[in-house]
Amino acid sequence: MALPNKPLGELKAVRDPEVEEREVDILIVGGGMAACGTAFEINKWKKDGQSVLLVDKAAMERSGAVAQGLSAINTYIGDNTPDDYVRMVRNDLMGLVREDLIFDLGNYVDDSVHLFEEWGLPIWKKTDDGKNLDGKKGLKLGTLKSGAKPVRTGKWQIMINGESYKRIVAEAAKKALGEDNILERVFIVELLLDANVPNQVAGAVGFSVRENKVFIIKCKTMMVACGGAVNIYQPRSVGEGKGRAWYPVWNAGSTYTMCMKVGAELTMMENRFTPARFKDGYGPVGAWFLLFKAKALNGLGENYAAGDVAKKELERYAPYGTAAITPTCLRNHLMLFEMKEGRGPIQMDTVTALAELGKTMDKKELKHLESEAWEDFLDMTCGQANLWCAQNCEPEKKNSEIMPTEPYLLGSHSGCCGLWVSGPDLDWVPDSYKIKARNGKIYKQMTTVEGLFTSGDGVGGSGHKFSSGSHAEGRIAAKQMVRFAADFSDYKPALKQSKDELVDMIYKPVRVYLDNCEYTTDEDINPNYIKPNGMMYRMMKATHEYGAGTATYYQTSSKSLEVVMDLLQTMREDCEKMAAGDLHELMRAWEIYHRIWTVEAHLRHIQFRKETRYPGFYYQADFPGQDDKNWFCFVNSKYNPEKAQWDIFKKDYVKIIP
Ligand code: FAD
Ligand code: ADX
Repeated sequence: MALPNKPLGELKAVRDPEVEEREVDILIVGGGMAACGTAFEINKWKKDGQSVLLVDKAAMERSGAVAQGLSAINTYIGDNTPDDYVRMVRNDLMGLVREDLIFDLGNYVDDSVHLFEEWGLPIWKKTDDGKNLDGKKGLKLGTLKSGAKPVRTGKWQIMINGESYKRIVAEAAKKALGEDNILERVFIVELLLDANVPNQVAGAVGFSVRENKVFIIKCKTMMVACGGAVNIYQPRSVGEGKGRAWYPVWNAGSTYTMCMKVGAELTMMENRFTPARFKDGYGPVGAWFLLFKAKALNGLGENYAAGDVAKKELERYAPYGTAAITPTCLRNHLMLFEMKEGRGPIQMDTVTALAELGKTMDKKELKHLESEAWEDFLDMTCGQANLWCAQNCEPEKKNSEIMPTEPYLLGSHSGCCGLWVSGPDLDWVPDSYKIKARNGKIYKQMTTVEGLFTSGDGVGGSGHKFSSGSHAEGRIAAKQMVRFAADFSDYKPALKQSKDELVDMIYKPVRVYLDNCEYTTDEDINPNYIKPNGMMYRMMKATHEYGAGTATYYQTSSKSLEVVMDLLQTMREDCEKMAAGDLHELMRAWEIYHRIWTVEAHLRHIQFRKETRYPGFYYQADFPGQDDKNWFCFVNSKYNPEKAQWDIFKKDYVKIIP
């Protein structure tokens, strides 16, 4: 259960925290869309006597990427087919995806959307004469499940009134699982392998961010769904705006770091998402491009994406570049091309778009359209609406600048980095996509570590799941974990580390602080330690300048990668000297630790893949362009926790859907 909000100020950390030990059959780490899907589904399937616990570092009602709400559900299959869904994702991600996972999800995702509507999420509806009805008016036309038509923006996306989306989904999850089986405001730091059974996950360790307490939790099986990674690159925002980023600031790469550190195989970590967004406020562009049919203009006022220069540029990346829908990275590439040629900045032509739409509308409808434009931001990125107010921007009168942001790592939006997981146990799925547990059985979405599952941003090679797909994947994992726990009901988890060793590890930054903080007059500056804030600046500076950040227009080179790898190695060593005076800082310390490992994995993958697979997301100066002959394959990596060594290798891609 959630602990009440803290009084003013952060709680000072103490040298020796309380310790709470727990043992459950199934552990869910994370409380976002995927974890809520698991929490909702698991009760239906769990066997008598099986116990479940969910742990979220924040409060589920507003945690994760959907915290602020959303204005669209980007994956709803509806009248489309799962085959076509695979083709769309494959094209957007430049040909290399796990088609088995995407096809499978395509068969289940709509069911999650129908549940959201049943739980009270307003979904816009289309009337027979082509009008859009939102909110309560939309409800009158019935539910999607009963045959009402959604308002499609693109082929896959549908509009919602989604300010309370996460609250609605979390409420259903909490009700199903029961508040007593949920720990909120507990940050999981590390996963723990079994002392006796090789390569079997046996538990996790973390700490409360509201009281001085360490949690050691043993389990038979676990799902880690802690989202992707933000703030691994210096954001474009500066000064007091620095806390603003496109991605939710609390997803710190925990999924990737915690799983890789127990030896789970990663895939496509070279992939990143560099979203084009309304400048400075990070407002979404999807509704503008798709619903309002707006065009992006270069500094000369030209619709550059429709011009000959763009056509020629896109032909270089055929067949993806020449497809009906230009892949997300190549849309960025065109934008960057214009900017580098001196034809920036890029503007979203909101004025023409609203004027065009307004031609067939009466005054009342036009007013409603304008409020929809505002609501798109108010539903999911209210800071952008504030910025419009601050800049006296009325979108029907003044265009707004858009530009690619700093890079993020994720596996459920328009990116596909993550963990290599088992495909479904079906005859059309290649053997190389199946992971067998020690009993010879296959459990979908299990990683290469036995008993360890993931969903949402954690599953690699299968982007474009978005909120609905992540929820559906969480539900799929629920059934698989119940099966795993039942099949291994005799397995008794045993930890390698003692209770004291685990507490020493988690509270080390606190003890470093307490041992040294009185040495200097300013506790942030000390020859014996570094604060997480300082470490964050170090990491961001290194990745920004050498790791294809915004500083270099997303370009890196072999030499730059060598430099950044060396810097990251030193940072990992210096993390031993990180200091935390209060619980918030302790969380910051572990977040930065997770970020450093995650971004190192990202850069190792870029270094290994000697081509530029995703122009517009990143460029390798000495390996420009795609090299399908040598690199039409996945890149996977595995960290060996015993030897502290990385292995990075190619894995065959199999085309399943013609
Ligand atoms: P999240 O929902 O982000 O959940 C991660 C969870 O892990 C959180 O509860 C967090 O508190 C917890 N956590 C993190 N670290 C730890 C730790 N160490 N210990 C314990 N808990 C931890 N999708 C759409 O369908 N439509 C949209 O319009 C749309 N817009 C988006 C806009 C933005 C800005 C972003 C970032 C995403 C958007 N998405 C959209 C995508 C959608 O939000 C994600 O696909 C989805 O939330 C991913 O689910 P997840 O469970 O993997 O991660
Ligand atoms: S959001 O999650 O913040 O809404 P975004 O605005 O990037 O993301 O995109 C929402 C949806 O619209 C995604 O499915 C994305 O692929 C799609 N999309 C965005 N811009 C375009 C475009 N110019 N052409 C086609 N699809 C687009």
